[in-house]
Amino acid sequence: MGKLAINGGCKVVPIGLIKPWPQVTDADRQAVMAALDEAVPWRYPFPSTRALEHAWAQFVGTKYALACNSGTAALHMCVAAAGVGPGDEVLVPADTFLATASCVLHSNGLPIFVDVDARTYNIDPQKIEEQITDRTKAIIAVDLHGLPADYEQIYEVASNYNLVVIEDGAQATGATYQGRQVGALGDMAGCSMNGSKCLSALGEGGLFSTGNDKYFELAQRTRMFGELVEAGETRQYDAYIMGWNYRHDPLQSAFAHSQLKRLPAMTEVRIRNGAYLTEQLQQIPGVRPPYVPPDRTHTYFFYPILVEPEEAGLDIPVEQFREGLKEVLAAEGVPARPWQTRPVPAQSLFQFRDGYGKGCPWTCPFADRDVKYDPDEYPVATDVTRRRLVLGHCIDAFGPPNDLQLMEKYAEAFHKVLVEHRGELIDYVHTKSPETRATMGEMPRIDYSGS
Ligand SMILES: Cc1ncc(COP(=O)(O)O)c(C=O)c1O
Repeated sequence: MGKLAINGGCKVVPIGLIKPWPQVTDADRQAVMAALDEAVPWRYPFPSTRALEHAWAQFVGTKYALACNSGTAALHMCVAAAGVGPGDEVLVPADTFLATASCVLHSNGLPIFVDVDARTYNIDPQKIEEQITDRTKAIIAVDLHGLPADYEQIYEVASNYNLVVIEDGAQATGATYQGRQVGALGDMAGCSMNGSKCLSALGEGGLFSTGNDKYFELAQRTRMFGELVEAGETRQYDAYIMGWNYRHDPLQSAFAHSQLKRLPAMTEVRIRNGAYLTEQLQQIPGVRPPYVPPDRTHTYFFYPILVEPEEAGLDIPVEQFREGLKEVLAAEGVPARPWQTRPVPAQSLFQFRDGYGKGCPWTCPFADRDVKYDPDEYPVATDVTRRRLVLGHCIDAFGPPNDLQLMEKYAEAFHKVLVEHRGELIDYVHTKSPETRATMGEMPRIDYSGS
């Protein structure tokens, strides 16, 4: 029955089968060309940006939406609109992309990390309350990998302490929670339209959304130098608050608007792909596919797989197994990769606590509590980052036009490697150098089964 491709056998996933993301259609091209004609003379906001904002507010079901130049900017607009300032604390999950936490630093606030849930990998609502102090102002819940967080439980805690709930929907545009769209699940939301994201602006882009008049106005000012500029009115050049230049590019607005029209159809393909692959991987010991609670959908911006050599009866350190498996899968044509290499609080910025120099904002006189980040306080996030491989990183190997034909090949490759050629895989994994073996010492065994 042949050999593993890494040992000279045939690849399961043929070269050229995986199609890149995003898909660009003639309609997208026409939309960008029309915006190009409108983009002279310069004005604010551009008609294509207004049209995107209107369409996004309608799509997610919020009163307001603002387009800006990144998901990070959209999140910072949320943090600034929530009134977070020097010494204020904001709760964020320990496993996410840096921007979820750094957007708090941009307003001189302090991120306080909360461990994640072992089934959804999102912020663990049971662990939020223990991190709340009288300085806590907000919670940022992340819809990680494309799966909405547990908003019902998050709001239960937040409402008891009068905290603002901010949704980081960067990875999950198009997903739903209890029938509601990502972008409408918090008091405010920041989503990303970076080229790799499920709703792509091709290059960079972000979307802020809210139903609240005050947050909308403050977010608008944060986007535009602290000024309030009404369409069609003379600009006063009077900044009321600290502001940045977070405006969106009109050509990218037009591209994203055109893509938004196809977002429901593209999301359907992602959901179908994910459901199929999960069904297949569930039968293969050594890998854990993602769990999707029945009240929400997952858009699989990343399709996360945890490696569990223990479950396959293998006495091999997790890091060594993941590295070997990644290489063997790559040879078969499956581009599964690790993502975050450690929980965010273990990154150097938080270990050395020096944001703006001189230790700020941690040494700001208003930050009168000595906030330190001990990675041992986030055992689930730490364990997830050492076990995780993701499909769909950078060149998107998961969204359309990739469909079940590719998923069947992925499933076949996992089966070939972990079941049919298990002995060959183990031999290969054992050739990995000692440096790829366990780097984090003895870890507690996390129960991912939810049982
Ligand atoms: C969870 C999360 N939040 C925020 C961001 C920031 O978005 P952007 O890259 O558009 O600034 C990202 C980007 O990958 C992300 O994954």
